[in-house]
Amino acid sequence: MKEAHPFAQRVNVAVSGGDGYPIFVGPGSLEHLADLLSRYAPAFRYAVIADARVADLHRAEIEKALGGLAAEVSWFTFPPGEAEKTRDQWARLTDALLDRGLGRDSCVLAVGGGVAGDLAGFVAATYLRGIPVVQIPTSLVAMIDSSVGGKTGVDTRHGKNLVGAFHPPAMVLIDPRLARTLPRIERAQGLAEAIKHGAILDRPYLEALEHAAPGLLAGDEMATTACVVGSVRHKAAVVQEDEREGGIRKILNFGHTLGHAIEQLSGYAVPHGLAVAWGMVLEARVGERLGVTEPGTAAMLARILRLFELDWERVPRFAPDALVAATRTDKKAREGAVHYVLLRKLGVVARDPDWSRPVPVAVVLDVLQSLDGEA
Ligand SMILES: NC(=O)c1ccc[n+]([C@@H]2O[C@H](COP(=O)([O-])OP(=O)(O)OC[C@H]3O[C@@H](n4cnc5c(N)ncnc54)[C@H](O)[C@@H]3O)[C@@H](O)[C@H]2O)c1
Ligand SMILES: [Zn+2]
Repeated sequence: MKEAHPFAQRVNVAVSGGDGYPIFVGPGSLEHLADLLSRYAPAFRYAVIADARVADLHRAEIEKALGGLAAEVSWFTFPPGEAEKTRDQWARLTDALLDRGLGRDSCVLAVGGGVAGDLAGFVAATYLRGIPVVQIPTSLVAMIDSSVGGKTGVDTRHGKNLVGAFHPPAMVLIDPRLARTLPRIERAQGLAEAIKHGAILDRPYLEALEHAAPGLLAGDEMATTACVVGSVRHKAAVVQEDEREGGIRKILNFGHTLGHAIEQLSGYAVPHGLAVAWGMVLEARVGERLGVTEPGTAAMLARILRLFELDWERVPRFAPDALVAATRTDKKAREGAVHYVLLRKLGVVARDPDWSRPVPVAVVLDVLQSLDGEA
């Protein structure tokens, strides 16, 4: 029987060999957290893992939402920022859960941005060989992208997300009201992933985002909810077709090959969304240079990014050969060659040969060298 959830839109993600998981998106849906947990992620104890900033801002309302649960709830926090997405922090949190004596009948609630989601998800994936995790995203990056799909993990000095596990959540609860405290600049960075969804899959969605840009940046609740629902549907459709990134899921990496290189070279000072935003423009240029991408695509993307205040001027300049070297440590390198996802045009990915393709270093260098002044 299908239950009605009048407070939220529901998207289901199918998982092979399991029942899949529901994603609820709706302003005010947090109020139903206790009820939804007892249905979709019942546990004897809950471990809330959050960064300290998000805990400061939202702990009271999350505790209130958990008030109806009979189970014990404990909080575990870590300092905010990408620099904490490490094995050290994973070990510290895991030890803290062990110190509290949490057993296999426990469930992790990952509350926060993508860092909390990836880190807490990885703690859950490995704790006592795996306990359930529920994702409760609070940043737009996490609402639009990282809370869906089951990828968890930590960074190493060799690059981002190099140690991790696939661990699909038991449920995702997205209350766009939690994003009301997000600074405008963080909002813009999260929206870069929605722009990516439009660029790879859905040009009308990209155009709708473009029109909604002022409201989205200002935190308008209706515009934000529509965008989160649109992106979650796109991401859910892709990840359920390809849970472990053997094929079509690779398209979600558009912009991320050069984006991750920018992030890494900046020592993670350039935020993920901004790096991916300009990774997309650069990779569109690479596609144009190869004759795969319709000419003018990179310029159109650059114009849209400026509407979202993701200005190229905010990205530091790195030496082209250093950027190319940094792409080699990315997971997307295969058999020595770095693979890129290329667009055919806005809204359509070049499918052949296998959703991504090796690109000669000389072409990437050429694009990077011809950059300044024209971006
Ligand atoms: N697993 C995946 O599929 C996937 C996909 C995309 C990105 N990611 C990962 O996500 C991370 C980036 O996510 P992020 O940008 O959310 O980073 P983040 O978790 O560090 O959050 C960014 C900042 O916003 C703050 N914040 C979060 N919610 C807030 C709120 N409601 N109000 C005020 N401040 C708030 C955080 O404290 C932090 O300071 C990267 O590590 C990236 O690799 C993972
Ligand atoms: Zn991303």
